[in-house]
Amino acid sequence: MNKIVIAIDGFSGCGKSSTAKEVARQLGYTFIDSGAMYRATALHFLNLNLSPLRPEDVEVGLKSLQISFQLNPETGKQETYLNGVNVEKEIRTMRVSERVSEVATVKAIRAELVAQQQQLGRKKGVVMDGRDIGSVVFPSAELKLFMTADVETRAKRRQLELQEKGESVSLEEIKLNLENRDQVDSTRTESPLIKVADAIEIDTSNLSFSQQVDQILDLVKKATIN
Ligand code: DC
Repeated sequence: MNKIVIAIDGFSGCGKSSTAKEVARQLGYTFIDSGAMYRATALHFLNLNLSPLRPEDVEVGLKSLQISFQLNPETGKQETYLNGVNVEKEIRTMRVSERVSEVATVKAIRAELVAQQQQLGRKKGVVMDGRDIGSVVFPSAELKLFMTADVETRAKRRQLELQEKGESVSLEEIKLNLENRDQVDSTRTESPLIKVADAIEIDTSNLSFSQQVDQILDLVKKATIN
């Protein structure tokens, strides 16, 4: 079977990353969580006390930014590293979630991260999830998906994830953060979240995790036959 590029876009907290990761595992593809790159960038700016809205700060921040995905020998999983430090857990905290959408509005930051993402996917056999993967990063991806779920379902799923990591956050706070990020991500000038014409929509509100994965694997089969 020839290898393709699978682009998965959609709102925050739809389960894009976990689904994409499992689809990639079953296909033997590389999984790239582009949101993790925006999160690592947001953390970098927070750590250095830089404002993504000041061009001088952006220049300094991007010069000293190095993001990679490496195997963590302790967990046996591919995790996110910022300048050589494992930040997989830290980038999922509310502190970073609250700042990441702002960072993702900045043109120079997006240009840098998009170039890195295109480089990572150049050999195909990749599943990448984000907001602009089908529209900007890989406009000629063989399979484009747009995942949605109602905000209540997304907030409950996110709350469980945070609880498992020992962070207790109210449903209301998570809902507000999700709604706020949906709003910023869909209305920003630079590469807003859109469903491109050739994307297939998958509403996961009433789907189990394995149903989501199986639906996508079916679509991959069809896309690789054609
Ligand atoms: O997928 P996520 O929730 O981890 O993404 C974090 C933020 O990064 C999200 O609010 C929007 C931004 N993002 C983006 O603008 N473009 C992408 N390709 C991926 C994420």
